[in-house]
Amino acid sequence: MKTTAIVNSNIALVKYWGKRDEKLILPNNSNISVAYDKLNTITTVEFNLDYSKDIFILDSNEITDGPVFKKTTEHLNIIRQKAGIETRAKVVSKNNFPTAAGLASSASGFSALAFAGSKAAGLNLDQRELSILARLSGSGSASRSLIGGFAEWMKGEKADGSDSYAIQIAKPDYWPEFRIIVAIISEARKKTSSTDGMNLTVKTCPLYQGWLNTIEQDLENVRKGIAEKNFTLIGSTAEFNCLKMHATMITTQPSLIYWMPETLEIIHSVLDWRKQGLEGYFTIDAGPQVKIICLEKDVEEINNKLCSIPSVKKTIICKVGKEAILTDNHLF
Ligand code: DP6
Repeated sequence: MKTTAIVNSNIALVKYWGKRDEKLILPNNSNISVAYDKLNTITTVEFNLDYSKDIFILDSNEITDGPVFKKTTEHLNIIRQKAGIETRAKVVSKNNFPTAAGLASSASGFSALAFAGSKAAGLNLDQRELSILARLSGSGSASRSLIGGFAEWMKGEKADGSDSYAIQIAKPDYWPEFRIIVAIISEARKKTSSTDGMNLTVKTCPLYQGWLNTIEQDLENVRKGIAEKNFTLIGSTAEFNCLKMHATMITTQPSLIYWMPETLEIIHSVLDWRKQGLEGYFTIDAGPQVKIICLEKDVEEINNKLCSIPSVKKTIICKVGKEAILTDNHLF
């Protein structure tokens, strides 16, 4: 059966950086994200006896080797094993934003593959099982993407990872005024993937334990900030959490500096705007793009200011995104 899923990408307010189990993709720390309503991946999967091998087409290019192809076939193998089939699959996937430039394409990509792939293989998994499947051989942050709204991926304690999955902590329509502005400064692919980057950080960064020591407080603040709609608490915690993660990246050996000069220009601007009373907070993943969280009342002014910075190529203003859906609009 041919199945197509549309999944929104997400941005972490408390980041996931470092694994306790590289094979099962289990995180060292719990983390919290919010879904974007405008950045998504659409993926069609079909298992068919006519295919002699797995075929994978991403953004109109056939991918036949490399880490993404490997992760994709491994993921299909997990689905096949669960469904008790050996049939090969065709996967066609499209992102409506630049792939692998720090906009979490792996998060929406692998969760769309898990959702569409499991359905296409005849499985009917619940949200917890899908969240676990999405991270397995896929991408940790994918475990948060299917859920929509505000999601927490619980690190879990068990060695088999059965208690490490994401849950929704606030629904997509819970906070209609919440906005995330994505400022795109470069569409180039990043040099070091999140997977390689975080493994290197865990192995070589002398500050990594400090990162882990302060995570519980950040999680508590962001949960409280969401529950009480305390935007200042969420924003200030998310911004500081991002800076702490980048401090561990920068002090990894060899150093991982995902920021470009333009990234820093936006960081300084956001800090200046805040001094002038305009409340926005930045957050940055493993890439040069800056995302700014703010409330509806300030979004236009912040966006106008951002667009007047020459290095900002484009901005995308997002609200909180919904959960993943299935559609009949197949890509092939
Ligand atoms: C900085 O989920 O892409 O975006 O599990 O190795 O595939 P793997 O990594 P990935 O890492 C995301 C890291 C981050 C922070 C976050 O999204 O929580």
